Amino acid sequence: MITGASRGLGRAIAVALAEAGADVALAARSKAALEETAHLAAPAGRRALVAPTDVSSYAEVDALVQRTIRELGRLDIVVNNSGVAKVAPLVEMTSDDWRFMLDVNLTGVFNGCRAAGPHLIAQKSGKVINVASVLGQVGLPGYAVYGATKGGIIALTRTLGVEWARHNVQVNAIAPGWFATDMTNEAFAVPAIHQRLTRDIPARRIGRPDEIGPLAVYLASASSDFMTGQTLFLDGGHSAA
Ligand SMILES: NC(=O)c1ccc[n+]([C@@H]2O[C@H](COP(=O)([O-])OP(=O)(O)OC[C@H]3O[C@@H](n4cnc5c(N)ncnc54)[C@H](OP(=O)(O)O)[C@@H]3O)[C@@H](O)[C@H]2O)c1
Repeated sequence: MITGASRGLGRAIAVALAEAGADVALAARSKAALEETAHLAAPAGRRALVAPTDVSSYAEVDALVQRTIRELGRLDIVVNNSGVAKVAPLVEMTSDDWRFMLDVNLTGVFNGCRAAGPHLIAQKSGKVINVASVLGQVGLPGYAVYGATKGGIIALTRTLGVEWARHNVQVNAIAPGWFATDMTNEAFAVPAIHQRLTRDIPARRIGRPDEIGPLAVYLASASSDFMTGQTLFLDGGHSAA
């Protein structure tokens, strides 16, 4: 089950998981874009379930979990990837902006973990992969609210990893640095911003969405069974510098 699978990093993760042998339940709000992801995953020969879902609604995420189990027969891997970013100085943010980003980014992850948790615990195995951000650890003006939601995901992942370790359910996070997706295309189209942002990255380039798939496959596989509660930074060295 992958949220935010309609484009960008979530789409790349969904296709990589299908290529690695998983049936995939694709969730986001846009049905047409989810169908496009299902089309891209089709050559892998696995089943793809298109499941329009707003992750900020617990009822919708719970229905997604139940539908995935009913129609695909199992649920082993939960990727909580949906996210939104509004960029502005904190003094220009409204309470509605705060609530909007919190509801999708952090409550969305809570909803995925909470709805899938009882099932994963009962079957005594599971992999949860939350998508945080380098900005949950590194400060950047304009991203105080977004960074707070992503820092929350890192803390939630750490504690849930500890809480569910005894159930053989591993909970880890990927913290991407800058990647070229719809979320960032506008900023990177401005040469000055592109230059300013890549200056912070020791690799001197931004990531390609296809670079996240292998890490998600690793965290979804038995190879990572002894890893839990961790956040792995995939950021060209940004957070290490
Ligand atoms: N790109 C980067 O540089 C970068 C860096 C660090 C972290 N991230 C994180 O990586 C994740 C994916 O981002 P991206 O770059 O791929 O961005 P994106 O291209 O804008 O994709 C965001 C995804 O989230 C979904 N989404 C948004 N609101 C939703 C809602 N209420 N319910 C369900 N799904 C919702 C969108 O689908 P619909 O609009 O169809 O609902 C879309 O599939 C996010 O959590 C983001 O914060 C990205």
